[in-house]
Amino acid sequence: MERHIAMDMVRVTEAAALAAGRWTGRGDKNSADQAATAAIRKQFHSMPIDGTVVIGEGEMDEAPMLYIGEQVGDRRGPKVDIAVDPLEGTETVASGLNNAISVIAAAPAGQLLHAPDMYMAKLAAGPKLAGRLSLDDPIETTLSKASAILNKPVSDITVSILDRERHQDIIAELRTMGARIKLLSHGDVMGAIEAAMESEVDLYVGSGGAPEGVLAAAALRCLGGEMQGRLLPAGPPDFERCLRMGIPDPHKLLTMDDLVGTKEVLFVATGVTSGSFLNGVRYLQEDKAETYSVVMHSANKTISYLRTIHELPVQEALVQGAAM
Ligand code: FBP
Repeated sequence: MERHIAMDMVRVTEAAALAAGRWTGRGDKNSADQAATAAIRKQFHSMPIDGTVVIGEGEMDEAPMLYIGEQVGDRRGPKVDIAVDPLEGTETVASGLNNAISVIAAAPAGQLLHAPDMYMAKLAAGPKLAGRLSLDDPIETTLSKASAILNKPVSDITVSILDRERHQDIIAELRTMGARIKLLSHGDVMGAIEAAMESEVDLYVGSGGAPEGVLAAAALRCLGGEMQGRLLPAGPPDFERCLRMGIPDPHKLLTMDDLVGTKEVLFVATGVTSGSFLNGVRYLQEDKAETYSVVMHSANKTISYLRTIHELPVQEALVQGAAM
């Protein structure tokens, strides 16, 4: 799968990043998202895959493009399931903040959880902690276990979590125990991935979007880390949505294997605004632009970084002129 589609997938996320990057700091998250989505949809068309969107912009009746079940690609290549977030961090781009990405995960059909659009409780960690923690443990237990396994005091453990009212209890507990905390304003795909990268973050906890949980799990699979999740349906309509998407027990603890199968997964992301391990889009003189992307592949555990200089097409240059 990697040989066939990795580079094509990078071209797709690059196109989205170039389109969304125009909206940085302009206070319009919907336009940023639409620009990224339209760019991805267009680019997907010529990709040599027989793809099905399993995580996208929503269900068919609520999303005009990249809806769940939409067929993408030229239908001639391998059969793959696609999880895509054209712009992860819409608010981030609108406010000109760090860590927005365009992201896609691809895997052979049936390998990615068809996560409904609702919250998911998450626990993510790197290779040393993988398989040794449980989302069911209270946060104090998780911290103590991490401290023992990583052989460092709790005060040296860094936990990343979205800065939300709903997390006040966890944050208070982390502070009581003396852990270091990285509060995220948005963007928990990067937040969770950081726990398995060479970074100061040891653990990611708290709830965020379920689709984002599967995307992060795809990257963690490639990095040898782990993600556990539990869907948090808010009421009967959410329960029905779970059933429709083939999840009979919405309260089940979702293991790494439930989120992302073991066969093979490819994860690609391009920075829209700069973050901890990807620079954002830079528009250069003479209608050129620079992007940074990462490609991860689970089968051979490769992590590759790509810096690309793009010649922007004429119409892109015109849009740039209009936007300024
Ligand atoms: P969007 O790109 O859809 O705006 O999502 C950003 C994000 O921060 C995700 O990374 C995260 O999973 C989710 O929103 C958290 O939702 P909320 O802002 O409601 O806590």
